[in-house]
Amino acid sequence: MSAALRIPPQIEPASAALLSDPLDFFFAEHFRQRKLCNLIEEMALAETLDWALTAEVLDFLRHDAVLHVRDEEEDLFPLMRERCPPEDEIERVLSALNAEHAGDRHLADIVIEGLEKALAAAQPPSALPGLREAMIDFARNERRHLALENSVVLPLARRRLSPDDLVRLSANLLRRRQEGAGEENA
Ligand SMILES: [Fe+2]
Ligand SMILES: [Fe+2]
Repeated sequence: MSAALRIPPQIEPASAALLSDPLDFFFAEHFRQRKLCNLIEEMALAETLDWALTAEVLDFLRHDAVLHVRDEEEDLFPLMRERCPPEDEIERVLSALNAEHAGDRHLADIVIEGLEKALAAAQPPSALPGLREAMIDFARNERRHLALENSVVLPLARRRLSPDDLVRLSANLLRRRQEGAGEENA
């Protein structure tokens, strides 16, 4: 389908129904982030500015992506540190992922600032110096990060977290979204 015929949103909304199984919810969020990467790459190469898509991507980077990192750093990763025995060597993986979160945030901030300028100038990202490269770097780093979380962290979480852990995790993710909704409505 041509870009002109697509109707936003391009990225499915987060599925609150999946929160009853928080690990499925993480997989679903990673699927949405893969879609984000595809769209960002597409936008980086486009010759024209897609206003609706740019607004959607900005919204995702400012809100959904931030919530997701908090879900991992404040809830999932600490729980795994408690539950995984030393032979899992999970600390090495989690430390690397934490460092990548910081690097990806830095790159996301550059992309956000660039896309805001693209909107203000009514020009495609390719017309702004360095923005195309930053967008392609962001998508590449993010895909690698997602692959590690999907192949190592989430399968191990499935083995190590107890049913009670999953209930607690689910409640924390839900509370974070309710607090976020409360702040937006305030
Ligand atoms: Fe992550
Ligand atoms: Fe993740």
